[in-house]
Amino acid sequence: MAWDRSALTAEGFAGWVRIADLPRAEVPSGAGVYVVVRPGVAPPRFRPTNPGGRTSEKDPTVPATELREAWVDGAEVIYIGRATSGVGKRRGLAKRLGELLRFGRGQTGNHWGGRYIWQLSDSDELLVAWLETPDTDPEVVSAQLIARFEQDYGRLPFANLVQGSTAASRLPQIRAARDEDVDDVVALWSLAAENRGRPADRPDLVRLLIERDPDALLLAVDDGEVVGTVIAGWDGWRASLYRLAVAPQHRRRGTARLLVGRAEARLKALGATRIHAMVLEENNDGNGLWQALGYTPQPDWRRWVKAAR
Ligand SMILES: CC(C)(COP(=O)(O)OP(=O)(O)OC[C@H]1O[C@@H](n2cnc3c(N)ncnc32)[C@H](O)[C@@H]1OP(=O)(O)O)[C@@H](O)C(=O)NCCC(=O)NCCS
Repeated sequence: MAWDRSALTAEGFAGWVRIADLPRAEVPSGAGVYVVVRPGVAPPRFRPTNPGGRTSEKDPTVPATELREAWVDGAEVIYIGRATSGVGKRRGLAKRLGELLRFGRGQTGNHWGGRYIWQLSDSDELLVAWLETPDTDPEVVSAQLIARFEQDYGRLPFANLVQGSTAASRLPQIRAARDEDVDDVVALWSLAAENRGRPADRPDLVRLLIERDPDALLLAVDDGEVVGTVIAGWDGWRASLYRLAVAPQHRRRGTARLLVGRAEARLKALGATRIHAMVLEENNDGNGLWQALGYTPQPDWRRWVKAAR
């Protein structure tokens, strides 16, 4: 993806306020992820001293050589953060971004991560945009974003010094399927997918899908092994999720969440306003998953089908 304002806006990021204007901005209070963006490609200039919060033991100042080393040429996104809603929903984006700014203004406390951004001489001009994640763990979403950034630029965003949580390091990579994955995908589906009441999968039809829409079939890949799939289908009118499956030994680690999150982002970017999935009534795994991700059943519809070949 292009890591610019229009691509991120298409993925649902909103706000785009100057970091210095955060106190006057209407930041949502729920859980979510946020990005700090430095528009344009002008080379960075660094302050000799970091104005961020310090204690007698901890000074956020870093030598300019180290900052230059961390700088990612061509990337406008310089930091990806997350805000959980916390116990009793007392945290969230507004609180977290308040902490970010207070740290930059020299108060000690709770936003040591991302400290490099304050050593940029134009730090007040940075923009902040956020994405609420009401149905998904923001830690997973931010880890997914950081992993995508790493895939695209070969390194972490400038001010993300570590991958983040241990959850992040366990996350599989999400990518579009290629022809050479087809046998692995069909093998996974025979073992892990919802297979009742439908024709058997055929490798030639999966290849046809990849040829027609190369970004539709998304894979979760762990250490080279295909451990999950979803098809994000867009026909220009309707957005559908099919063949969501995760290998049994990889379940309940957030893999389906990641896959669906990526699939939803693709479908929204294509113009979808509503996304649907079909689930057998008695599929407890599927029903539990869709419910957890904010989907609701539509009991007044019945699917009508006819074999086409
Ligand atoms: C459904 C399926 C894809 C879920 O994959 P997964 O990677 O284990 O799901 P996640 O770990 O991302 O789960 C996210 C949330 O969904 C819900 N969920 C997942 N599996 C569930 C289950 N078996 N029962 C109830 N809730 C479930 C939980 O809320 C879970 O969050 P938690 O683990 O923090 O409680 C997987 O069980 C699977 O492949 N099943 C067989 C194929 C299938 O039924 N696919 C769906 C077709 S519609």
